[in-house]
Amino acid sequence: MRYGYFDDAAREYVITRPDTPLPWINYLGNEGFFSLISNTCGGYAFYRDAKLRRITRFRYNNVPHDEGGRLFYICDGDATWSPAFLPAKTPLDSYRCRHGLGYSVFEGEKQGVQAELTCLVPMGASCELQKLTLRNGSQDAKRLTVYGAVEWCLWNAVDDSTNYQRNWNIGEVEIEGSTIYHKTEYRERRNHYAFYSVNAPVAGFDTDRDTFLGRFRGWSEPQAVAQRISYNSKASGWAPMAALRLEIPLAPGEEKSFLFRLGYVENPEEEKFSAPGVINKARAHALLAAYDTCAQFDAALSELKAYWAKLLGQFTVKSSEEKLDRMVNVWNQYQCMVTFNMSRSASYYESGTGRGMGFRDSCQDLLGFVHLIPQRARERIIDIASIQFPDGSTYHQYQPLDKRGNADVGSGFNDDPLWLVACTCAYIRETGDFTILDEPTPFNNEKGSEVPLLEHLRRSVNYTATHRGPHGLPLIGRADWNDCLNLNCFSHTPGESFQTCSNFESGKAESVFIAGMFVKYGKEYAELVSRLGLGDEAKSVLAAVDEIEAAARTAGWDGEWFRRAYDAFERPVGSRQNDEGQIFIEPQGFCVLAGIGGRAYGQKALASAEKYLGNDFGLEVLHPCYTTYRDYLGEISSYPPGYKENGSVFCHNNPWVTLAYCALDDGNGAFDLYTRNAPAYIEDRSEIHRTEPYCYSQTIAGRDAQNYGEAKNSWLTGTAAWSFVAVSQGILGIRPDYDGLRVHPCLPDAMDGFTACRTFRGVRYEITVRRGETKGLVVDGKAVPGDLVPLAAGPVCAVTLTI
Ligand code: GLC
Ligand code: GLC
Repeated sequence: MRYGYFDDAAREYVITRPDTPLPWINYLGNEGFFSLISNTCGGYAFYRDAKLRRITRFRYNNVPHDEGGRLFYICDGDATWSPAFLPAKTPLDSYRCRHGLGYSVFEGEKQGVQAELTCLVPMGASCELQKLTLRNGSQDAKRLTVYGAVEWCLWNAVDDSTNYQRNWNIGEVEIEGSTIYHKTEYRERRNHYAFYSVNAPVAGFDTDRDTFLGRFRGWSEPQAVAQRISYNSKASGWAPMAALRLEIPLAPGEEKSFLFRLGYVENPEEEKFSAPGVINKARAHALLAAYDTCAQFDAALSELKAYWAKLLGQFTVKSSEEKLDRMVNVWNQYQCMVTFNMSRSASYYESGTGRGMGFRDSCQDLLGFVHLIPQRARERIIDIASIQFPDGSTYHQYQPLDKRGNADVGSGFNDDPLWLVACTCAYIRETGDFTILDEPTPFNNEKGSEVPLLEHLRRSVNYTATHRGPHGLPLIGRADWNDCLNLNCFSHTPGESFQTCSNFESGKAESVFIAGMFVKYGKEYAELVSRLGLGDEAKSVLAAVDEIEAAARTAGWDGEWFRRAYDAFERPVGSRQNDEGQIFIEPQGFCVLAGIGGRAYGQKALASAEKYLGNDFGLEVLHPCYTTYRDYLGEISSYPPGYKENGSVFCHNNPWVTLAYCALDDGNGAFDLYTRNAPAYIEDRSEIHRTEPYCYSQTIAGRDAQNYGEAKNSWLTGTAAWSFVAVSQGILGIRPDYDGLRVHPCLPDAMDGFTACRTFRGVRYEITVRRGETKGLVVDGKAVPGDLVPLAAGPVCAVTLTI
């Protein structure tokens, strides 16, 4: 069943009831100020870093789930209600939530009063705007009491939820007219503050949460709201908040709008105070002035919509597949932006306090993002490479605020370095900008250690080539892409992290998956350096590729499929010889798309993957699932069968197989797999799938799980980028390349063709693919051999491919 519908023209998903199986969320903000917003208006805001600059408080493991966030109460006589259902929980006469690109709209109606609340983060501004419009559709004059409120987080989200002996003493606010300033720790080492404000005189306010709520009450029924008053409380320690109260008379038919602003400001050290102990509010005043009227709000919304229309206009498709079109044109690209911005840091499942920006994750996210804003991709590549070590290995993560490698997680994930090659090559193919390779880039962020970025790539490749095990395959280290295949860990300490445990490095455990990566990205690196005139280097890299390819073809092949790895005792993993975990998906995808063993191995491997791993939602990670804990395999065997890395459909790796089908020219195979978990295609099963039908989730429980088909961990997953690569470059076959745009679709029989527009290096390619007798490529009226559309002078280039 469904809980809403796609409005393709508006680029919105419209949710028609508040009780979705889980909170269905959206992201506001693009660069500095970010908010998460659920379909009941929950969520939280932060500036750049979800751990260190958390602006509003959120309780992940709260019951009821998703309380807090943006707290609006409309009091009309005895009724108290919220336009997005929460926090008041009063049943509404009508409800809709429209999640759009960078904004969300809530439409609630009760007793003839219609409320429309639109939330967005304007382009380039560090604030969230909330425009509340109230319409009296009844015959009676109304006098509404309206509250808008937020609860402050004391900046560091981890400290905020742990260090109460200190935190209950430090909360401070300032009150100025209709604006509440949150300035905890501003007196000492912080130079940032937040504010919440409304563009109308308030009848009262509260800044002390417990005064506002009263004893024994939650957000659904604060004492102040129940009494329709404010206590004008001034927080001093405990939990500071900002609650603003408006008294709003509304004649029949009358409509009024109010603009609430949640802002974040940083002051230079020397401009912190306007008087001793008093915040210098000049920047806040400027921000408030910039967004003080509904007209200014409407302009911000139009600007946001225009921004997205332009961005998404760079890649559009029109085909007979409505669902494919809506994924490609809107939602998949949108999720690529979100994953680029957030990596795995902040969602409703990622707490924003731990994982920061992952090296492998961010490199892969970039593959689906680079065509949108190449300049930001370029900056990101340099940031990522800067946490690499001189030997080519790398920190696994960094915090976005300081961009320094995270020592708690450390290094040793041996797939990491090669992803840097993957994303840098993708960036150059998209932009033609080889100068990025000259960019001075430090190791471990150390000043003075800068070398050209190319040297980082070189060391990445060398790292894999020189860290090999007994079978000549790359050593796996702590783990490769599959974080939970921990072959050097042997953990028996409860709660110990499998990724950072101390019992480490047999020097033997090897990864067939990294072999697949090396064959693919080693070749890409060799092509890159031969374009730079470094033919000898290209040759020696290709020699290493040949060796590793041979090792994968022999030691990595099990007869019907690719093996996964060798453990610390040199025993195969993902082989018929094993009692469980006989076949894994990752090497089937990556080794086949890397071309290892040619068509013969490829077809066998994919047939085996489908036979053993296939379910209604895609391909499971492995089969049979592990039923017991095995210390020589690590975390993978810690999960109950069918969940996470132990046999769910781990959506991230499915598109590798889609691409592998494309490498074998199997359009039906590719499309069939693509549609099994593309969100728009499974919208009808939302009560089973449960997460948002407009974005990918990390996992969908496998057949062995009790809740087969249930997705978890929506939004922040490499699935977004890889699915976009699979559908745009694999199925639709539009591939940026160094010397032009390749058009090499791999369509299912059910599709006759499509038209697409792709902006590439400033030229708009208008592409038509159709079936017909006379095959071949025609560019601006001229037949062109092969599948490469040479770089055009522009501004428009017409491409027709007959297949
Ligand atoms: C998580 C991690 C990612 C890893 C994957 C598989 O999504 O963020 O880095 O590759 O799990 O274990
Ligand atoms: C757990 C998860 C895995 C994730 C890792 C990150 O192992 O199962 O998906 O990548 O944590 O540390």
